Amino acid sequence: MARRKIIAGNWKMYKNIEEAVAFIKALIPSLTDAEVDVWLAVPFTAIAPSKEAAKDANITIGAQNMHDAAEGAFTGEVAATMLLDAGAKFVILGHSERRQIFGEDNAFIHKKVVRALKDGLRPVLCVGETESERDAGKAEEVVKEQIQQALEGILAEEAANVVIAYEPLWAIGTGKNATPAEAEQMHQTIRRIFEEFYSSEVAQATPIIYGGSVKSTNARSLLEQENIDGVLVGGASLSLDSFVEIVHYKRLANV
Ligand code: PGA
Repeated sequence: MARRKIIAGNWKMYKNIEEAVAFIKALIPSLTDAEVDVWLAVPFTAIAPSKEAAKDANITIGAQNMHDAAEGAFTGEVAATMLLDAGAKFVILGHSERRQIFGEDNAFIHKKVVRALKDGLRPVLCVGETESERDAGKAEEVVKEQIQQALEGILAEEAANVVIAYEPLWAIGTGKNATPAEAEQMHQTIRRIFEEFYSSEVAQATPIIYGGSVKSTNARSLLEQENIDGVLVGGASLSLDSFVEIVHYKRLANV
């Protein structure tokens, strides 16, 4: 069965409740004939109202981070069950901004992935190399290690709930996206890694989405690649017009 494409927005630290709800209400009418799944990773404060605004639509609401503990004295942190309680169905984990700005390493990300799966929240695990790692020919090695460490000990049944987001660091927020061919090559590699760790069945079922400067001018050519099962859109997901254009990528010019 063909994997259905996921168009995911990562709003990062943008949009208050009113803005989030207005965006979703305006988005809903444009989804009636969309052939994709729309996911929105919204700020924590906007999860519950976004879920309410999205209630009968094909929009899945998620979060952008969480802590790995079930609960506890962790001032300022949020647990997977709290995100579920607010209406989130997925959580972005290991985003490069978390890794770089907040010092999250593969071991910590692993604990979060385990917790998310245990509690029933779908992890969108972000992986990707820096520009110097790519230049040194180490991109595949870095990505393999990130996946291996994040998924260590996770069984095939659980791995089937993981979404991988390949986000090369040099492409995030830079306006410089990976070419469709570069992205497709890495997505094939990631599928092979899943085959090696699990089975070809799990590998074929796992959504592998691309992120890094996705916009309406490049979305179609990326999404038409066989192993690119969706996109994780930062900047271009903040404006309704550009996000809707990406949702309807098949209508865009094929550049
Ligand atoms: P960008 O961000 O689309 O603005 O490059 C993508 C991301 O960080 O998920």
